[in-house]
Amino acid sequence: MTDRKANIAVFVSGGGTNLQALIDAQETGIITSGRIRLVIASRSDAYALERARKAGIDACAFSVKELGSRQAVEEQINNKLEEYSIDMIVLAGYLSILSEDFTRRWDHRILNIHPSLIPSFCGRGYYGLRVHEEALKKGVKVTGATVHFVNEIPDGGEIVMQRAVEVMEGDTPEILQRRVMEQAEWIILPLSVEKTAAALIGKSKGYRQWISMQHLRSQNESRVIPMSAAVSSSA
Ligand code: GRF
Repeated sequence: MTDRKANIAVFVSGGGTNLQALIDAQETGIITSGRIRLVIASRSDAYALERARKAGIDACAFSVKELGSRQAVEEQINNKLEEYSIDMIVLAGYLSILSEDFTRRWDHRILNIHPSLIPSFCGRGYYGLRVHEEALKKGVKVTGATVHFVNEIPDGGEIVMQRAVEVMEGDTPEILQRRVMEQAEWIILPLSVEKTAAALIGKSKGYRQWISMQHLRSQNESRVIPMSAAVSSSA
């Protein structure tokens, strides 16, 4: 059994309830294979930053508004990720779109939580309350949440975990959003993070089902933080 933990960065934009679920999951022992080392926000007034500070986690914000371009933001982010030797990233309500260059570099190392059962109600423009508004408009009886790997297609990466949630008579988008968070997001995000972190540090073989060693090898040279050692130990 290895003592190593995957170094996790969580990206946020808003209230940070999913970040809180991850922090709580570390405390309660649901997440044991990784540790949140860094929180990065897309805006300096995100309440999630406060949650990070309260939990003693280093946190910072990089916004396009302040730095002028997405490229400048990603440069700063990459520097921080390197400084903290980050192994995997969790997008927990992060509202900025990451460049293809960035998602390629972190292939199968970025998780995102989306508040619907993908492929329903997802893709460009589907975020926040809009997802639940559209679900109610369509009259679906079941919705839910999805954790998936992030690639260059919005909400298009491989699915890691999903959980269904019932839609009730009289639901408003706000009520449904809260139920989806409580009954799905805050449960499957920590579980998915543990699963991915465990695979990355070689505690489980799951990672090899998601991504072939061949593929990893070809990517290692361009990776910011090479993980070849950790991953090959799961062989
Ligand atoms: C969540 O519904 C998440 O699924 C979506 O944005 C919301 C973030 O909420 N992507 P919070 O900041 O974690 O409270």
